[in-house]
Amino acid sequence: MKNLAIVLAAGKGSRMESVIPKQYINVCDKPLFLYSLQTFLQASVDEIALVVAKGEEAFVKTWLAKLGDTSKKIRIIIGGLERYQSVYHALDVYRAEEIGIVSIHDSARAAISLPVVEASIADAKQYKASVVAVTSKDTVKLVDEGGFVIETPKREGVYLVQTPQSFDFKTLLKAYDLLMAKEDLQVGITDDAMVVERVLDIRVKITKGEYSNIKVTTKEDIAFMESIIKKKEATDGQTV
Ligand code: CTP
Ligand code: MG
Repeated sequence: MKNLAIVLAAGKGSRMESVIPKQYINVCDKPLFLYSLQTFLQASVDEIALVVAKGEEAFVKTWLAKLGDTSKKIRIIIGGLERYQSVYHALDVYRAEEIGIVSIHDSARAAISLPVVEASIADAKQYKASVVAVTSKDTVKLVDEGGFVIETPKREGVYLVQTPQSFDFKTLLKAYDLLMAKEDLQVGITDDAMVVERVLDIRVKITKGEYSNIKVTTKEDIAFMESIIKKKEATDGQTV
């Protein structure tokens, strides 16, 4: 059985308000998407599906060529309009293959560390579904449409969910097939664990993540990501 990583880079990055999609912005001399891809190249995955928007293949390939010979196969797959559609395009390509675990990762989370990826895969092997998350440092409030507090959940039970999210491949494919068959199930889906939670009767395990695994979402995140990457490079010495 092979392990597969799906690295998502097909979004538009509308909240970033930049001309080029955020995953292609250069940080410390290379585009953001390349960082997590390189981490997955070192991880216990056998193949990587890199999901990009139509028209971005040539740009992405020039960067993949700079990685030189990698023993792992990187397959470029064209994404869809919504994140869950991008994921489904990739899952569908591997439908007939013998995949054990699939790890799905947002390329905007460039600073993901190898130990967290491995922990995510290990938890998926044991529990079938795992999401990397950190506990909330702030108190969280649930608020109504008028801007008034409804409830304050206990902080110890509040987790901020990141990626990777890893799953037994057949389980996730089944969940996504059910999701794609019914449009009303697709409303408000923002991550893969939600798909499993919504359509299957299995529990999703939390894998302990790191606060440095931020998602570049708005402009101010770029400088933060740059400082995290610089720190990482000083310790790991990784460059393309
Ligand atoms: N993504 C994708 N396909 C989509 C939408 C998102 O592959 N149709 C990817 C993004 O490239 C990103 C990850 O999913 O790496 C997480 O999504 P998000 O942070 O929401 O990125 P965008 O959708 O690009 O940004 P925004 O929501 O601000 O438009
Ligand atoms: Mg989005």
